[in-house]
Amino acid sequence: MAAPSISMTFRMSVEDPDLMPYSHAEVAVIGRSNVGKSSLVNAVARQRELARTSKTPGRTQLLNVFDVTVQGGSGTMVDLPGYGYAKASRSARDRWQERMEQYLLDREPLRMVMALVDGEVGPTRLDVATLRWLRYNEIPVTVVATKHDKVKATARPKRKRELAEGAEVEQGDVVWVSATKNVGIDRLRGMIGGWLTTAPQG
Ligand code: GTP
Ligand code: MG
Repeated sequence: MAAPSISMTFRMSVEDPDLMPYSHAEVAVIGRSNVGKSSLVNAVARQRELARTSKTPGRTQLLNVFDVTVQGGSGTMVDLPGYGYAKASRSARDRWQERMEQYLLDREPLRMVMALVDGEVGPTRLDVATLRWLRYNEIPVTVVATKHDKVKATARPKRKRELAEGAEVEQGDVVWVSATKNVGIDRLRGMIGGWLTTAPQG
């Protein structure tokens, strides 16, 4: 099967979820700081610097909105600020949580949340809490395990089992990716096309 074509452009960055632009269908990328959200957005887009990436955690503080046209659909993708940044102040974390909850609960066009979990070390307790919160609120979520290249081939079967168990999902429901080695990116692009054509629920 040919790799799905995709075109992505940066639309805007917003701080206040109330100021998000119109979209008919949206997918969001969430995960702890440094898990690889921006790297994944770039890999999916086949662009090097569409979303900023950093070795310094906590770089993405705004909701970064991209326009996406992918085989099968079109809409927007949002790179959300990372959670769990140890050096962030209590008030910054509270503000983050409030804004994220507001976005996730109120965003009408939201079709899927890609919840990123570090493939090497995840899920963390915060990842598990976030996943439970998303399910409790009936927000559609797909677990995406990042940095597949960092897991040694011999350790993969066990790691895949552990990660799925920790995230409380079936192994087959976890999408494993490597942004640096381009693992699983075509598959994810195809899934994004599907989500962006999904009719609203209800
Ligand atoms: P914040 O914006 O701070 O929330 O982080 P983020 O989740 O956007 O992470 P980012 O994409 O900036 O990546 C963090 C670090 O992980 C960078 O040093 C990336 O180069 C590295 N990284 C991301 N994806 C991969 C991957 O697939 N493999 C490897 N080996 N490193 C990766
Ligand atoms: Mg980022």
